[in-house]
Amino acid sequence: MTTGPQTTPPPYPDSVRIVEVAPRDGLQNEDLGLPVETRIEFIERLADAGLTTIEAGSFVSPDWVPQMADTDQVLAGLRRREGVSYPVLVPNMRGLEGALRAGAREIAVFAAASETFSQKNINSTVSDSLSRYAEVAAAARAEGVAVRGYVSCALGCPYEGEVALTAVRDVAGSLVDMGCYEVSLGDTIGVGTPEKARMMVRAVAERVPVAHLAVHFHDTYGQALANVLAVLYEGVRVVDSSVAGLGGCPYAPGAAGNLATEDLLFMLDGLGIRTGVRLHELAAAGRFITGHLGRTPRSRAAQALAATAQAVGAMEE
Ligand code: HMG
Ligand code: MG
Repeated sequence: MTTGPQTTPPPYPDSVRIVEVAPRDGLQNEDLGLPVETRIEFIERLADAGLTTIEAGSFVSPDWVPQMADTDQVLAGLRRREGVSYPVLVPNMRGLEGALRAGAREIAVFAAASETFSQKNINSTVSDSLSRYAEVAAAARAEGVAVRGYVSCALGCPYEGEVALTAVRDVAGSLVDMGCYEVSLGDTIGVGTPEKARMMVRAVAERVPVAHLAVHFHDTYGQALANVLAVLYEGVRVVDSSVAGLGGCPYAPGAAGNLATEDLLFMLDGLGIRTGVRLHELAAAGRFITGHLGRTPRSRAAQALAATAQAVGAMEE
C-alpha cells in the first residue's frame, strides 16, 4: 500500500500549440477572393503575432474553391521564417505536385468520417480518398515533406446527421498509418458539445495516441471554446483556430466560422497556458483581414479589445 501525499496530474497543460487556419479555412469560405499580396501580408502579420503553424492555402481545384487559387504565389511571396510551418491542403497527386513545385514543406490531406460529405467535398468515397492519400503521403514523405491529416464530420455531418465514433476512429487510424504526424479532428458544422467532444477524443485515442491528435471546432452553436476546455482534460495539446472567427467549408451548408483564435488565446492566457502568441498583434491581424473583407471580427475577445481601446481613446480626448 502506498502512503504519503497523493499527487494528481495538473488539469491543464503548460503549453498548447495553436494551428492558425484563417488564411485557408477562413478565406476559402468568403465570397470575396482576396489578392495574393493581401493573403501574404495577412500570413506575415499572423507570424508577427507569434503563431508558428499557419495554414497558407490549398492546392485544390480552382473550379471547386476559387478563393484558394494562386496558393503557389502566396507561398512564393512569404518570408518563410525559421520555426514557422506553412501547411497547405492537398486532395490528390495533382495537388501534391503543385505544392512541391511551390516549395511547400508541409501538407495536409483531408478525409471525412461521413460518406456523403466525402462525396460532396472531394467527389470520392472515404475508402478511395484514403487510398489516394496514402499515395500522396508516401510521395510527400519521400521528399521530406511533413503530412498532417484531417477527419471532417467528427461530431456530425450536414447530410447524414449523427456520425459513428468508430468511423472517426478508423479514419484517424488510417491517416496515422499512412504517415500523418498529427490528425486534426474536425467538427465541420460545429454541432459538438463538450461531453460529446470528450467522448469522441477518447474513442479516437483507442487507436491514435492523444499526443498525435488536434481538434478543429467550428463555432456554429457557440460551443467551440467549451469543447476545447473539455478536450484539454483528455490530454489534447494542439488546437486549430481562425483569427476573427473566419471560416467554414463551401461544401458543408450551415457551417459558421471556426473558433476565433483571439477567444482561444484569451482563455489560454487566462489559464496560464503558454502559446507564444501575443493577443494584441493577433487581434490587429484580424482587423487587417476583416477590413479587407469589408466587415468586423466575429471574435468576442477582439470586439472587447476594440471597445476598450475606443473607450480609453475617448477618455483621453
Ligand atoms: P474532380 O472534379 O473529381 O477531379 O474533383 P478530377 O480528378 O476528375 O479532375 C477534374 C479537373 O480538375 C481536371 O482538369 C483536373 O486536372 C483538375 P481538366 O482536365 O478537366 O482541365 N484538378 C485539379 N486542379 C488543380 N488542383 C488540383 C486538381 N485536382 C484535379 N489538386 C477534387 C476532385 C478533389 C479535385 C475536388 O473535389 C476539390 O478540389 N475539392 C476540394 C474541396 C475543398 O477544398 N474543400 C474545403 C477544404 S475541406 C474543409 O474545409 C474541412 C476542414 O477545414 C476540416 C473541418 O472543418 O472538418 C479541413
Ligand atoms: Mg474547417
